[in-house]
Amino acid sequence: MKFGHFDDAGREYVITNPRTPWPWINYLGNEDFFSLISNTAGGYSFYKDAKFRRITRYRYNNVPMDSGGRYFYIKDGDTVWSPGWKPCKTDLDSYECRHGMNYTRITGEKDGIKAETLFFVPLKTWAEVQKLTLTNNTSKTRKLKIFSFAEWCLWNAATDMENFQRNFSTGEVETEGSVIYHKTEYKERRNHYAYYSVNVPISGFDTDRETFFGLYNGFDEPRVVLEGRARNSEAHGWSPIASHYLEVELKPGESEDLVFVLGYVENIQEGKWESKNIINKKKAKETIARFDTAPKVDAALEDLRNYWDNLLSIFTIDSGEKKLDRMVNIWNQYQCMITFCFSRSASFFESGIGRGMGFRDSNQDLIGFVHQIPDRARERIIDIASTQFPDGGCYHQYQPLNKRGNNDIGGGFNDDPMWLILGTTSYIKETGDFSILDEQVPFDNDMSVARSLFDHLTVSFDHVINNLGPHGLPLIGRADWNDCLNLNCFSEDPDESFQTTENKTEGSRAESVMIAGLFVVYGRDYIELCRKTGRQDEAERASRHVNEMIVTIKKHGWDGGWFLRAYDFFGNKVGSKDNEEGKIFIESNGWCTMAGIGSDEGLCKKALDAVKERLDCSHGIVLNNPAFTKYYIEYGEISSYPVGYKENAGVFCHNNPWIMIGETVAGNGGRAWKYYRKICPSYLEDISELHKTEPYVYSQMIAGKDAFNPGEAKNSWLTGTAAWNFYAVTQYILGIRPGYDGLIIDPCIPEDWKSYRVTRKFRGSIYHIEVTNPASVSKGVKEVSVDGEIIKSNVVPLFEDGENHTVKVILG
Ligand code: BGC
Ligand code: NOJ
Repeated sequence: MKFGHFDDAGREYVITNPRTPWPWINYLGNEDFFSLISNTAGGYSFYKDAKFRRITRYRYNNVPMDSGGRYFYIKDGDTVWSPGWKPCKTDLDSYECRHGMNYTRITGEKDGIKAETLFFVPLKTWAEVQKLTLTNNTSKTRKLKIFSFAEWCLWNAATDMENFQRNFSTGEVETEGSVIYHKTEYKERRNHYAYYSVNVPISGFDTDRETFFGLYNGFDEPRVVLEGRARNSEAHGWSPIASHYLEVELKPGESEDLVFVLGYVENIQEGKWESKNIINKKKAKETIARFDTAPKVDAALEDLRNYWDNLLSIFTIDSGEKKLDRMVNIWNQYQCMITFCFSRSASFFESGIGRGMGFRDSNQDLIGFVHQIPDRARERIIDIASTQFPDGGCYHQYQPLNKRGNNDIGGGFNDDPMWLILGTTSYIKETGDFSILDEQVPFDNDMSVARSLFDHLTVSFDHVINNLGPHGLPLIGRADWNDCLNLNCFSEDPDESFQTTENKTEGSRAESVMIAGLFVVYGRDYIELCRKTGRQDEAERASRHVNEMIVTIKKHGWDGGWFLRAYDFFGNKVGSKDNEEGKIFIESNGWCTMAGIGSDEGLCKKALDAVKERLDCSHGIVLNNPAFTKYYIEYGEISSYPVGYKENAGVFCHNNPWIMIGETVAGNGGRAWKYYRKICPSYLEDISELHKTEPYVYSQMIAGKDAFNPGEAKNSWLTGTAAWNFYAVTQYILGIRPGYDGLIIDPCIPEDWKSYRVTRKFRGSIYHIEVTNPASVSKGVKEVSVDGEIIKSNVVPLFEDGENHTVKVILG
C-alpha cells in the first residue's frame, strides 16, 4: 500500500494520506540552523547542536506519536482545523504534504478554505521561514481566526527533560509588536535568544502554555483557540510558548499570505542589551525584514532550489529505470547531505541528545557527498582528524558545537582509525587537492602536538599493526564497525553500557577479521597515496604489512566456506561453521571480498555464495546467521537483541553495499543489482504499510528473516546506508569512479542491461558518458572513446577546462 507518490520533476515526495505508518519527515536547513518536520508539521528546530541549542521542544516516544511541532490552528465558525491534519485531526476535504529538497509544503482544505504552508530555512539564515497562504475558494466572504504555535525548549535539550525544579522557574519572554522573543537564561550566561514573528499586526498573543491550552487540554484543543480569543499571556517560568493571534477576512476568491519567522540570534557580550532587561533585537529585526513579504520568501526559496539544482547536477543518471534514477539523482544524494549535517544525532529515532558526530560515521558519510560540497568535506576531515589521539586511536564521537572529542564515550573502537584514510583519499580523488595532506592537525584538539594530516594517516595505519592479536589479526578493542560485537565486555550488570564497558581486557585474544579486511582495502589506498606523493619507502613498508595481513587472513581468517568474523576473548572462533549460532557474518565477508582476498583460490566466490545461501532473504542480506537466541556474555550487545532485529540478524542496510561491491569485484553485476534493489526505498514504496518508514530514504535496519515481523524498517534517515549505497551503485555498479588521474570507468551491471547515460562534473569538466553493452556482459570495458578519440585505458583523462566532453564506453 502507498501513502503518496514521487514527483520526480519537482524532486518531491507527495504524501496524500496523513495517516502514514510512521511520521514521514524531512529536514530543513543544511548549514547552521536546522529543523525536523514531519508530514503533519511535527518536529523541532535547533541551531548547530540538537542538544545544547535546542530552540523548540519535542517529546519523544509520546502518545500519540509525533505530538508537538509548529502548528497553525484555523478557527472558522465553530470548526477548528489545521492544514497538516494534526494536531486537530479534523477531517480535511483535501490534504497533501510535499517533502522537497530542504523544504516542505503542507496543504489542507476545509469548507472551501485552502491553507497552504511552506516551511524552509533559507540559505545562510538562522531561521525557519513559514509562509501560510490562505485562499477563499467560496463565493462568500469568510472571517477566520488564525493562531500560530511554537513551544520553546529551555535550550539544553537534556536538562529541559530533567531539571524541572529549576526550569519551571526560569522561563522568560518579551513581546514587541508582532514578535515574541524567548530569552530564558539570557540574563546570565547565554548570549543568544530565539524569536517568532509574523509580518502583519496581530490581534493578540500568548506566551504561557497553560494559559494557551488549559492545563488538561492537549495540542488538539487549545483553550484559547476554542474560545476564539487570545489572552495576551506573558510567561513567567513554567513553560513559555509563542502564539500569534490573527484575524483574517477573505473575499470570494481572495488569497492572503502570512509570513512567520522562527529564528535564533547570537549577540556579542557588550551588545546584549538594548536597555535594562530589554534584549538587543537588532539582528532579529534584520532577519525578519529579509522575509517580510511573500515575494521575498519566494525568492529565497528559489535560491534554495538553485542551490540544489547545482548540487544535484554533479552526478546524474538516465538509465530508463525510474526507481533507480530517482534514487541516484535525487533522494540518495539528498539523504547523503542530511547524514553529513547530522551524523547520527537528530532524527525521529535519535534524540539529538545522546550522540555527537561519530568518527567512523562521519568519514563514511563523506563518501556520499564529497562530490557535492568538497570544501565542507575538507573542513570535516580536519575536524575529525583533530579528535584523534597521538597513537592513532580516536575519540569515537565529537560534539559539533565545540568540535571536541566526547569524553563520555572515549575511544577504543579499533576500526575507527582506518576510516580516516577512506575519508581523506576520497576527498583527494574527487578534488585533486593534495594540499590537505600538509595541513597541521592537532591530536585531541591540542595544537601544541599538531602534525600534518598525512602523519595522521600514518598513525591510523600504524594503529592497526601496533595492535595485533595472537593470530596476527587486528585486536578488536571495544568493538569494530559492529558496535554490538563487544568481545571484551562481559557484562552481567544491566546498568552498564555494552559499548563503553570492558570488564575483561587483560590477556584478551579478541581479534577482528573485519578490521583485517578493512586494513587491506584502505591500506592499499594508503600505499597508493604514498606513491602518488613520492613517499616510496613508506609505500614499501606499508605494502609489507598489507601483504602480511593478506597471508594472515587466508591462514587464520578463512573458515573453509567463508571468512570468519572474529576470535573472541578466549581465542575461540566467531562466525564459524563450528559455532552453534552466528556461524556466518556479513561484515568480514564483505570486506575480504571487496579486498579480493584469495580470489585466485576461489575464496571470494565461496564466501559470496555462502552469503547468498545463508544470509540473503527477500528483504535484504541479514547480518548473521543463525541469529543468537540467547545471551552470550562473551559477545555482548549483539546477542541482547531479539532475533532478526538490529545487529542480531537484522538486515542492517549499511553493510549490504559491502557485499554488492564484493560481488562487483568478483564480476557478478546481476547479483549486485538484485541486492541493491532489495533494500532500495523507492523499490519498497508499494509495501509501505509493512516497511513503515519513508519510501524516499534508507533506514538503518529492516527486520530480518528470523524476526517477528520481517520487512519492517526502523531508524530512517541517519545511517551510513545512504553513503554506502550511493557509493556502491554509482562507483561499482554504474562504475563511474573518481581516481587521482581521471575518471575511472569500470561498470559491473546485469547482463541484460543495454545502455545508460551518466553526466558527471569532475575536476572542472563535464563528462557526458554513455555506456553500451552490445555483447550482454556483466563487466569488462572493451573500448572507451573521449570526444571521438579512442583512449588506451579505462581512465578518462582530466581536462580541467570547464568544457563538455563526450565519453563513449563499450562493454564487452
Ligand atoms: C545500536 C547500534 C548503534 C549504537 C550507537 C546500539 O545500541 O544497536 O546500531 O550504533 O547503539 O550507540
Ligand atoms: C550505528 C553506528 O552509528 C555505527 O557507527 C555502527 O557502525 C553501526 N551502528 C553498526 O553497529
